[in-house]
Amino acid sequence: MSSRLIKAATLRQHGILGINQRNRDFIGTYNDRRHYKLVDDKLQTKLLAREYGIATPRLLRVVRYQHEIRRIDRALVNWQRFVVKPSKGSGGKGILVVTGHDGDKFVKGSGAELTLDDVKRHMSNVLAGLYSLAGTPDTIIIEDVIECDRRLAAYSHQGVPDLRIIVFLGYPVMAMARLATRASDGKANLHQGAVGVGLDIASGRCLNAVQFSRQISRHPDNGIVLNTLAVPDWDHLLVLAAGCHEMTGLGYLGADMVVDDRLGAQLLELNARPGLAIQIANGSGLLPRLQHVQQLKRRHATPEERVAYMQEWLRGG
Ligand SMILES: Nc1ncnc2c1ncn2[C@@H]1O[C@H](COP(=O)(O)OP(=O)(O)O)[C@@H](O)[C@H]1O
Ligand SMILES: [Mg+2]
Repeated sequence: MSSRLIKAATLRQHGILGINQRNRDFIGTYNDRRHYKLVDDKLQTKLLAREYGIATPRLLRVVRYQHEIRRIDRALVNWQRFVVKPSKGSGGKGILVVTGHDGDKFVKGSGAELTLDDVKRHMSNVLAGLYSLAGTPDTIIIEDVIECDRRLAAYSHQGVPDLRIIVFLGYPVMAMARLATRASDGKANLHQGAVGVGLDIASGRCLNAVQFSRQISRHPDNGIVLNTLAVPDWDHLLVLAAGCHEMTGLGYLGADMVVDDRLGAQLLELNARPGLAIQIANGSGLLPRLQHVQQLKRRHATPEERVAYMQEWLRGG
């Protein structure tokens, strides 16, 4: 047997879900394409979340037209801290996090400074579609800056650690934290070199950590020991993620959450085609969990019940 075949067989043995099966048996079967627009546009997700009582960073302003940018000076100067985000962006592109002012300079999360004109030029580029998925004109979301919970912030090199939860038929089946590194340039993207930390659904604690698909025990930049990571407000975070099933009508989704120091768990964005690297971060496959949920005779009606059920089952109860 070639080593590639051995690898495929081993993966199956570990219940690893591959891309073809994900597309055919999960996304293709459980995600109605009509619902994609709710998650591919962050503004729509945000407005819908508000209706469903799912917390997201507070919306300060929506900007749709170039002429609105000319009149936004006073507002920008008045907001101490704000995030400018393309509604149809991805991979962190086009997101500007302003964490303070120094006179008429705006200070970014990284410490770099921008003028008012720089910020307005950036906004103009966002509207023109520079960062949108298909290069089509976009809308700007201006929202509050997430002040990451201090217990979690210590694990990241700049940037807010992102918590990805895979939700299947409303059950949270697998979770990971993504920690920015110097290699990932403050972004929480695994192929750019962010650290992936598999999390125990029952407790929110670290199970395993990887960078570039290799197991690691410490954060490569700050040296912090990763197996001490425990996500605050965990059960509440899972309930919000599980509620995204009702909110979107999607059977298979990835919810990206953050934990604010004051406000607790918040939803950042949803994904109808979540990646599979979460399995590497967890050191285990999605399939057994997905099949378990598929085989449930009677599904639980509320997010709270589904979270409690999944936690109990994964604890071995
Ligand atoms: N309101 C916010 N406050 C602070 N950081 C944010 C905020 N929104 C986004 N970010 C940062 O930008 C990253 C990407 O944001 P996200 O909304 O998930 O967009 P994308 O689709 O580009 O991944 C987050 O992981 C976080 O580090
Ligand atoms: Mg994201």
